[in-house]
Amino acid sequence: MTRKLRLGGNIDHVATVRNARGGARPDPLRAARAAAEGGADGITAHLREDRRHITDADIHGLTELLNGMGLPLNLEMAATAEMRAIALRHRPHAVCIVPERREERTTEGGLEVAREENRLAHFIAPLAEAGCRVSIFIAADRRQIEAAHRIGAAVVELHTGAYCDAHAEGRFAERDTELDRLRDMSAFAHSLGLEVHAGHGLTYDTVAPVAAFPEVVELNIGHYLIGEAIFVGLDASIREMRRLMDNARQ
Ligand code: PXP
Repeated sequence: MTRKLRLGGNIDHVATVRNARGGARPDPLRAARAAAEGGADGITAHLREDRRHITDADIHGLTELLNGMGLPLNLEMAATAEMRAIALRHRPHAVCIVPERREERTTEGGLEVAREENRLAHFIAPLAEAGCRVSIFIAADRRQIEAAHRIGAAVVELHTGAYCDAHAEGRFAERDTELDRLRDMSAFAHSLGLEVHAGHGLTYDTVAPVAAFPEVVELNIGHYLIGEAIFVGLDASIREMRRLMDNARQ
């Protein structure tokens, strides 16, 4: 399979740096333009309930900017009434439902869908009706994938954090086990008709094996790219990630 793998550039931490001082700089919209220049296929931003990085005004600005550029916005958000109202007002291309509170998480850190099927099914239905592609951020776990499928999600984003942590901490046997799990569960989700994305904690060192999974069509990457951008610029850090992803896909 040689389907192109999309890169969603997550710019949350540009806003983290801005908010450390208040004011307007560095500007997440400028980051979105630089990410697009470097080869990002879309922009991802997480509007957290506590607004610790991206703000409501950023989402408004990103929506206008990206609509003008013809690039998709992937809005990450918790499953709350407030966030849904914001999403319905802006109608981003995609909405990714993520856990924010501890009790919403599985042990691997993804959303606990299996325990909350009814609530989540009702929560996402209006978003899908409004034309947003609804993605659910979950652990690479069969139960969670089946539940995401049952509630009518179009997409699952598999949490790569445990794989990346194991690599960073030199626990290579565990890393390989996590990678096997991600591979198997990508294939399983795809077999149910779900579109498969992946992300969290990915770096130049860890991206290639995940990018090589044929069922994965999008990676969402932020923190590492923004960190690298301090040294080489955001367009360059995105370009290098894009190159590694494309190489892994051949
Ligand atoms: N995907 C989802 C659903 C996320 O919540 C995040 C973090 O905001 C990412 C991807 C990107 O993770 P990172 O910033 O570690 O690359």
